[in-house]
Parts: sequence; structure tokens; C-alpha cells
Amino acid sequence: MSEAASGTTALEQVQRHFARFAQGHAHLRLYHAICRGLADDPDAASLLLAAQPGQARPVLLLAALHDLVLRRPELPAARWYSSVVGRDAVATGDPWPEVRATILDHADELRRTIATHRTQTNEVNRAVYVAAAVSLAARDLPDTPVVLVELGASAGLLLEVDRYRVELRRQGVALVVGDPDSAVTCHGEDRSPTPLASLALPPVAARVGLDVAPIDTADADAIRWLEACIWPDVPRRIERFRAAMILLRTDPPRLQRGDMVEDLEGTVEATLQDLTSTEGRDLHLVVFSSWALTYVERARRGFVAEVLARCARAVPAVSWVTAEPAGCVPGLPLPEGLPVDDDTTVLGARRWRGGRELAAEAWGTCHPHGEWLAVTGP
Ligand SMILES: C[S@@+](CC[C@H](N)C(=O)[O-])C[C@H]1O[C@@H](n2cnc3c(N)ncnc32)[C@H](O)[C@@H]1O
Repeated sequence: MSEAASGTTALEQVQRHFARFAQGHAHLRLYHAICRGLADDPDAASLLLAAQPGQARPVLLLAALHDLVLRRPELPAARWYSSVVGRDAVATGDPWPEVRATILDHADELRRTIATHRTQTNEVNRAVYVAAAVSLAARDLPDTPVVLVELGASAGLLLEVDRYRVELRRQGVALVVGDPDSAVTCHGEDRSPTPLASLALPPVAARVGLDVAPIDTADADAIRWLEACIWPDVPRRIERFRAAMILLRTDPPRLQRGDMVEDLEGTVEATLQDLTSTEGRDLHLVVFSSWALTYVERARRGFVAEVLARCARAVPAVSWVTAEPAGCVPGLPLPEGLPVDDDTTVLGARRWRGGRELAAEAWGTCHPHGEWLAVTGP
């Protein structure tokens, strides 16, 4: 419907989006207050109209503003951001007057950021379900080295899953996977009907990430934007991201620019060629995607399995592990009772052994950022 026909201007729609965001996120002190302010303030809210088509979402303006205060910690709005001043030093009271002043004083700068950026994520705590899923995929080959390939890897933070301490808590007791002494700790609650008794990651022989827009860990602006897209109100997220970035810089995973369907076969072949000493004989190829396949057109998603079936002729064990919304992965059954196209994150795998595909398995569900997981199978 056109603006004239609907009687709503683009600016009014933007303000409604801010009002809805505020309503749905009352638990986020800062972002709730900012969005409530923007909902009633056409001058400040109008900045979002600079967004690229389809990108005018509240989180884009919030990220642009976060990026600004990360770059300019002397601005009045910065003292409301725990990511700038530290969690213990965040100002109290109503942030909106100072945040509004900062928005209006830097309107041109913010508009430029909004016009040239899209929100981007790489959530370290997703290592909780990646660790569980890779362990489950390797349960029949616990000692075989894996070649990890992530589809939609962003900056590659999840490819380092074995370098983090991943804690799965249940009634105060933690099951630890990965490196117990790591400076990066990921936390999740085990809500499985039968408690997870043991999980172990296999040794990692190689790791590579494929992304249409990979983020170079040496690019300070790109890393700051990734950080700016994290909501500062959520405890531990920024801190964990920063710790993971420090770890990653010492030995970053290889990232390949490309489409996860079109360029998968070439990426796998090149990675295996680099491991010629093992000749692919004692390797387990584990391809995983976490909230990434869902961005690929539905009609193209099935080609990933076709490519992997071909790879399974050269590599004795191939697993495709997914953490994607329900109904996203072709050929994967749904956990019982879950409707198709539900936003719940479903864990599952399609696996090939000795060139033949095994029955696809849904393993359960999890929080999209790994705050809990419920493994119901295998
Ligand atoms: C929501 S992010 C998830 C990043 C990471 N997997 C995580 O869980 O934190 C989705 C990623 O998929 C990438 N992506 C989207 N479509 C893609 C495609 N067709 N091929 C490769 N990467 C793609 C995006 O660039 C982005 O980095």
C-alpha cells in the first residue's frame, strides 16, 4: 500500500517500529529508553530514513549510535553505555536527554553510517550449541581429526569453538567442553530431558569460514561495527566478544569470501588439498551453519547437501551440522511438536559415512544465542 493510500508516512512507520521495539524490550534499560524517546521524536527518528532499502530497522540506528560512542567516548551519550565506561560506572537516571542531544549534534555522521551499513552479527556464545552439535556429530569418530567449515562465518568466531571454555550448567553443576583454561567462557543451561552426561570435541585439523561478507579481524572499523551491533544492555556479551577477538588475533581462522552454496565445493577441495599429508583418509569433514542458511533463498538450500554428498566420495566421514530456524534445512526432520517456519533454533545433522547418507537427525532446540539448549536425540 502506498503512503497516501495507507495514510502513514515513512517517518511515522519508523517511529512505530521504535515504539514496538521499546515495548518488546522493556528489560533492556538503555535501548528501551532510547527507543521510547525515538518513538516520540520525529527529528531524531528521521535519521533511520537514510537506510538502504529494507534495512530501516531500529537496531540499525542503535548500532550506528553505539558505533559513534565507541569511537567518541567523550560524547555526553557515552556515559550511558557499559561498553564504553564499564558496567559499574554506567550513569543512572534517564539517558534520553543526553542521547538525544548526541544524536542531533551528530546527525550527519550518523546518517552516513546508517546509509552505508547493515547490521551484522557473530555471537560468541553460540559456541555453546556449536560445541554440543560438533561433539554429537563426532560421537562415532571421537578421535578422528575434523576439518571445520562454517557457512556464513562472519568474523569466524565460532570456528574457534575448541579454544573456548564452554560451560553447560544444570542445577549448579557445569559440564565443560573445549579449553577449560580459556580466557573466553561461554555459558548455556542444559535443559535436555536427560541431562547431557559427556560431550567432547574432536581434534581440529583445519578450519575455514565461507561468507559473502567476511570480516577481517585486522580491520579495526569492521570489528568495531560488529561490536556496535551487540546490545550493550545484555550482560557479558561485549566482554565475551572482546575476549574472543583477542584470542582470535593470535591465530585467526582462514576466511573465504564467497557464496555458501556456489563456493562450498571449491572451498572444501582447496582446504583438503592443503592437508595433503593426511590425504583426506582419516578426516571428518564437519560443515556447520548457525543462523546463516536461513539467509539463502529456500530453493538454493538443498544444493549444500548435493555438494556434500559429492565430497563424501572423497572423504570417509562428512557431517552437516545446523543450528537454524525450524524448517530451514532441507531434509532435516523437525523435533516433535514444532511447527515449520517457527523461529525456534533447531539443532540437527545430515551425515554421510563411507559415501552413504545416514538418516537425518534432529537433535533438539536451543536459544538463538546459546543461553540454553535441550537435546532430545540422538
Ligand atoms: C546472522 S550472521 C551469523 C554469523 C555466525 N554464523 C554466527 O552465528 O554468529 C549471518 C552470516 O551469513 C552470511 N551470509 C548470508 N548469506 C550468505 C551466503 N549466501 N553465502 C555466504 N554467507 C552468507 C552473512 O554475511 C553473515 O555473516
